[in-house]
Amino acid sequence: MIPILITGGAGFIGSHTAVALAEAGFKPVILDDFSNSQQSVLQGLETILGHPVSCHVADCNDYNTVLDIFQREKIRGVIHFAAFKAVGESMDEPLRYYHNNLGSLITIMEVMLATGVSDLIFSSSCTVYGEPEELPVTELSPIQPPASVYGNTKQIGEEILSDTVKADKPLKIIALRYFNPIGAHPSAQIGELPLGVPNNLVPYITQTAAGIREQLTIFGDDYPTPDGTCIRDFIHVMDLAEAHVSALQALQVINTTSHYDIFNVGTGQGNSVLELVRTFESVSGQPLNYRIGPRRAGDITAVFADATKVNTRLGWKAKRSLKEALADAWRWQQHLGTSDSAG
Ligand code: UD1
Repeated sequence: MIPILITGGAGFIGSHTAVALAEAGFKPVILDDFSNSQQSVLQGLETILGHPVSCHVADCNDYNTVLDIFQREKIRGVIHFAAFKAVGESMDEPLRYYHNNLGSLITIMEVMLATGVSDLIFSSSCTVYGEPEELPVTELSPIQPPASVYGNTKQIGEEILSDTVKADKPLKIIALRYFNPIGAHPSAQIGELPLGVPNNLVPYITQTAAGIREQLTIFGDDYPTPDGTCIRDFIHVMDLAEAHVSALQALQVINTTSHYDIFNVGTGQGNSVLELVRTFESVSGQPLNYRIGPRRAGDITAVFADATKVNTRLGWKAKRSLKEALADAWRWQQHLGTSDSAG
């Protein structure tokens, strides 16, 4: 089995990708500093896979430790998730964000070059498109000036990748621009574990339904959309996880020594926040306590993917429905119970 390093592998998308990789016959090796994730994820992975997953507790910025992990585990490819992702916090703590998100990427690439590992998948985001002028967005849609430090770390991250490949360094890289990942593994053994009050919509919904939060506030219903609420491309996290496997397999058969490409990873369909709430109510069988509040600063009106490139070139397509994603998120919340997962 080919060992693949998953930095941030104990996080939401990373842990589901560990499952998808193992199911595709790779050996996932997790590197995580657990600054925004919990050790219990490893137990969940072991239950799903039937064996323990190799995990190293380390900071991706620590060159010597990362080098040692590459050598000991005989790493042959990397999926780099490790990053901070809270938009608001990034505005208060810019240096922490630049240091962590960009320092770790540079360190990983340096270690890859030092050890002759070529294949890298990078977690980027649809945030690079800002408020798009045309929908759906393709990979050729214009990049907008970043609205947050977090968003800027993704844009600069992509530049670091393309500049390195332009310099003919022996790296084969795919950046995946994620839309809005939601849901959980259908076993309810792993899922999203937000620390404290969730920023993202679906954990806020499921925690409200579980009685942990009193009420969901929908941030604005006066947007120029059919029902007035924002529109996003909500993608099941297992579909997103499987896109990483497709990307990695594509890199493995590329013959050139340097390669860089970018793919949108979304369903291709936009759903409004209110549609999401209604769908959740129907799959959970209970009404959700919500109110309409003011807009949240920095929110985009509508963004969803044109997924043609990833569908045709990587042979990957989202398979799971919005209903399935919300049913899985709800099952996961019920597994967690009514305690605040942040403790
Ligand atoms: C944001 C980032 C995205 C990042 C992701 C990671 C931007 C523009 N987007 O996505 O790049 O990858 O977080 O966490 O920077 N909503 C409510 N009530 C809530 C929470 C959310 O109405 O309590 C609404 C929001 O206004 C938004 C939608 O739900 O319209 C989705 O919000 P969220 O889950 O936070 O994701 P994004 O903001 O789309």
